[in-house]
Amino acid sequence: MIVKSADFICSNTQISKLPPPVKPEYAFIGRSNVGKSSLINTLTGKKGLAKTSQTPGKTQLINHFLINEGWYIVDLPGYGYARASKSEKAKWDKFIHTYLDKRESLQCVMVLIDSRLEPQKIDVEFCNWLGEKGLSFVLVFTKADKQSSVKTDQNVAKFRKAMLATFEEMPQFFITSSETQLGREEILAFISNINQH
Ligand code: GTP
Ligand code: MG
Repeated sequence: MIVKSADFICSNTQISKLPPPVKPEYAFIGRSNVGKSSLINTLTGKKGLAKTSQTPGKTQLINHFLINEGWYIVDLPGYGYARASKSEKAKWDKFIHTYLDKRESLQCVMVLIDSRLEPQKIDVEFCNWLGEKGLSFVLVFTKADKQSSVKTDQNVAKFRKAMLATFEEMPQFFITSSETQLGREEILAFISNINQH
C-alpha cells in the first residue's frame, strides 16, 4: 500500500467525542515506551505525526490519524507505566477497555511487544483479555534493530509458548523496526487486505 496522505484528526479523552465509527480503524497499543508512536510514523512515512519520547507515558490520549482519507490509525496511551498511580492505572484500564470493547469500526488491535524482552506478564494478560472479548488482534514485535535476529527469534518463540497456554495457535505476528523500516510493508499489506474486504 502506498500512503499518500496521513493527517492528524483529533485527540480525545472522551469516547463520546471520537470520530463517527464509519471508517475502518486499527488501534496500536502496548507497554509504555514500546514504540507505538514511532511505528505509526514509520508506517505513514511522516516523522513528526505521532509524538514520540524517550520518557514513557508520552501518549495520554486516544489519537486518530486518517490515512489515505479512508481509514484510521489510532495511537493509544501505553499500559504498564511503572510510575503511574494505582488510580491512574485503573482509569487507563477502564477507558481503553471501553474503547476497545465498544468501538464498532475497530478492525484489529495491533499489540506491540518489545522484541528485546522475554514475555512480560502484562502483555500476555492483555492478549488474554482481547481473546476473552473476541477481539481480533495481531502481535507486532518492535525494536528488532536493537539486537540480533537470533535473539529476536528466541523471544518470539518464548512469546509463542506463553500464548499457547491460552490460545490454540500463535496469533499472526510481525517483526518490526522503526529505525530500519523492517516489517513496514507487511503491516501495510495486512491492513490493506482487511480494508478491501
Ligand atoms: P508512550 O506513548 O509513552 O506509551 O510510548 P510509545 O510506545 O509511543 O513509544 P515511542 O514511539 O515514543 O518510542 C519510545 C522510545 O523508543 C523513543 O526513544 C524511540 O526513539 C525509541 N524507539 C521506538 N521504536 C524504535 C525502534 O524500532 N528502534 C529503536 N532503536 N528505537 C526505537
Ligand atoms: Mg506514544
